[in-house]
Amino acid sequence: MGQEIAVDAEADNKPRHIAIIMDGNGRWARKRGLPRVAGHRRGVETVKNMVPICGKRGIPYLTLFAFSSENWRRPSTEVKLLIELLHTTLETEMRRLHEHNVRLRVIGDLSRFPKKLQHKIDQAHQLTRDNRALNLTIAINYGGQWDITQACRSIAQLVAGGELSADAITPALIESHLCTSELPPPDLFIRTGGEQRVSNFLLWQLAYTELYFCDTYWPDFDEDSVDRALAQFASRQRRYGKTAEQIKTGSGLA
Ligand code: IPE
Ligand code: IPE
Ligand code: MG
Repeated sequence: MGQEIAVDAEADNKPRHIAIIMDGNGRWARKRGLPRVAGHRRGVETVKNMVPICGKRGIPYLTLFAFSSENWRRPSTEVKLLIELLHTTLETEMRRLHEHNVRLRVIGDLSRFPKKLQHKIDQAHQLTRDNRALNLTIAINYGGQWDITQACRSIAQLVAGGELSADAITPALIESHLCTSELPPPDLFIRTGGEQRVSNFLLWQLAYTELYFCDTYWPDFDEDSVDRALAQFASRQRRYGKTAEQIKTGSGLA
C-alpha cells in the first residue's frame, strides 16, 4: 500500500506534457544591441536543446508556442523573417528530429502560410508520424480562441448535418475537435521572459495546468532553467477541486 502511494506520487511529480510560451527573444537581442531577429535565431538553438533535455528527463510531450495569431501585427519585416526562420529550421531539422525518433506536429491555422511551408509541414508530419520518443508540437498562427472556434464550427456542421444531437456535445467531444486532440492536457505551462499572461495560448487545455513564470529570456533558457521549473512543479499539489486531505488519503470521487 505504502509503495503504491509512493509510485503514484512519483508519477505525479513529473510532468508528462510541458507547454511553453517562448518569450523574450527580442529583448535578449536588444540588450546586446543586436536586431530582434538575432534573438529569434538564438531562440531556435534553445528549441533544439529542449529535445534532448526532455528526452533525458523522460518527458514525452513538449508543446511550443512559436507564432501567435496576434503576431501578424508585428512589423512585416519581422513577420517575414520569422516565417523564413520557421521554414529553414524545419528544412534543416526535420531529418535530425526523425533520427531522434521525435514525432513532430505543427498546429494552428496553417492556411495563411506560403504553400511551400505548408508542404514542408505535411512532409514533416508524414516522415515522423510513427516516431515515439518525444511528441514535439509547434504552434504557429495559433490562438486558443481560434482553436475553440474551429472546434465549434466543425461540431456545428455535424449537428446541422443531422450526424450529432446537441445533447451529445460534452467537454470530451469539444476536446476531441481541438487541434491538440491527440495530446494529453499540459501538466506544466512555462512562460519565459517575465510577462505573466497566457497571450491566447492553449486556453481550453490549460484548465488544470500548473503555471510557471520566469524572467529568463528564451535564448538563455537552459537545462538548469528547466530543472528549476520541474522542481517548482514537483512541489505543487494538484487538487482538481478536492481538499488536500483527500489527495493525501486518495479518497473522494475521481
Ligand atoms: C518571442 O519573443 C518570440 C515570438 C513571439 C515569435 P518576442 O519576439 O516576443 O520577444 P520580446 O517579448 O519582444 O522580448
Ligand atoms: C506570445 O508572445 C507568443 C509567442 C511566444 C509565440 P508575445 O510576445 O507575442 O506576447 P504578448 O504580445 O507580449 O502578450
Ligand atoms: Mg514577447
